[in-house]
Amino acid sequence: MTAALVRPDARYMASFVEAMREGYSRDTLRPETPETIAAVAADPDGFLRQLADPPATIVLPDGALGQRAPETLLWYVDGDEFLGSVSVRHALNAALSQWGGHIGYSVRPSAQGRGYASAMLAGMLDHVRANLPLDRVMLTANLKNPASIRVIEKNGGVLQDTIPHPWVEGDRGRRYWIALR
Ligand SMILES: CC(C)(COP(=O)(O)OP(=O)(O)OC[C@H]1O[C@@H](n2cnc3c(N)ncnc32)[C@H](O)[C@@H]1OP(=O)(O)O)[C@@H](O)C(=O)NCCC(=O)NCCS
Repeated sequence: MTAALVRPDARYMASFVEAMREGYSRDTLRPETPETIAAVAADPDGFLRQLADPPATIVLPDGALGQRAPETLLWYVDGDEFLGSVSVRHALNAALSQWGGHIGYSVRPSAQGRGYASAMLAGMLDHVRANLPLDRVMLTANLKNPASIRVIEKNGGVLQDTIPHPWVEGDRGRRYWIALR
């Protein structure tokens, strides 16, 4: 089988729940809990419907309510196996310009270290080139996450600056841009 970027679909849900149980999280800043995993496992179709039609607001890491940026989420899969996720926000808002940027990604723990994040980001950059009117995209990485820094730099990331992490006290992070055209 060959891994590919696809839209979330019911055929990957069993593997997606397994990935959550082994430590994959939908949000890098907030780990899943037994309750969030159980909720997805109990109603995979409802979960997929919510992914397709998400709420207009989002709870920010500090608990405040923000406007959700329009986003395209793709899953990296091999056969029916879920390997990881990558999403692109179609435009930056104030919070994302500070931290988060356009593109975020995550690979399930058992599939890390095999080049998947690098391949997912490269595939998403192609997707953005073909589907969105963006000339460049912003990405951020915590200095404590050298694997993510490497993934961004391998995909052409140019460092803008290093800033205090807005959501994690004491941490610092890098903001990068990748030119698309
Ligand atoms: C960061 C993450 C996406 C990397 O996924 P991955 O599939 O293991 O990444 P890849 O295998 O494509 O590449 C990782 C690169 O970083 C390198 N790397 C890994 N650990 C490293 C370390 N501690 N120091 C330096 N480089 C490191 C690898 O050698 C590889 O580089 P190479 O291709 O030149 O050998 C994954 O660890 C993850 O999902 N973490 C949790 C979520 C997250 O942090 N997302 C990113 C938010 S910005």
